[in-house]
Amino acid sequence: MRAVRPGYRERPSGGVPLFLWFYMRVSAIGMIGLVIGHLYIMHILNSTDTIDFAFVAERFRGPLWRTYDLVILIFALSHGLVGLRGIFDDYIHHRGWRVAAEVAMWVVGVVFLAFGALVLFTFQPPAAGR
Ligand code: HEM
Repeated sequence: MRAVRPGYRERPSGGVPLFLWFYMRVSAIGMIGLVIGHLYIMHILNSTDTIDFAFVAERFRGPLWRTYDLVILIFALSHGLVGLRGIFDDYIHHRGWRVAAEVAMWVVGVVFLAFGALVLFTFQPPAAGR
């Protein structure tokens, strides 16, 4: 049998835990690329000194940057929630409390995702020239 190093979490053998284990890594790698792109555009090509409402409105004129921002939101939120679920598993030993905490966490997560998506896709840039 393989020795388990202290502080080392074994890769789950299958099912939902294995899927979530992979998801944490896929979302982490996805976030690295998307966040570097975001930082490059917002802080190197442009600057927070010059970014204003008009800049954001122009950026959100088409679906590309709205979708880009939505993907960052989905990755960051779901990655954080799946990570928090693992922390609940570690520290909440009573099954009923653990299920209650997870249900509350997913409800809050879905509400936050809905608000974020709503803002991203209902924002109306003012007509050009206004
Ligand atoms: C580029 C950004 C990020 C990278 C590269 C990253 C990477 C990782 C990795 C590799 C893990 C370990 C996964 C595992 O043990 O299965 C992890 C865990 C975690 N991440 Fe992230 N992460 C990022 C952003 C975030 C964000 C934005 C949040 C919060 C919204 C977050 C919250 C967590 C939590 C709560 C855990 C679980 C910690 C634990 O089990 O002790 N991470 N992250």
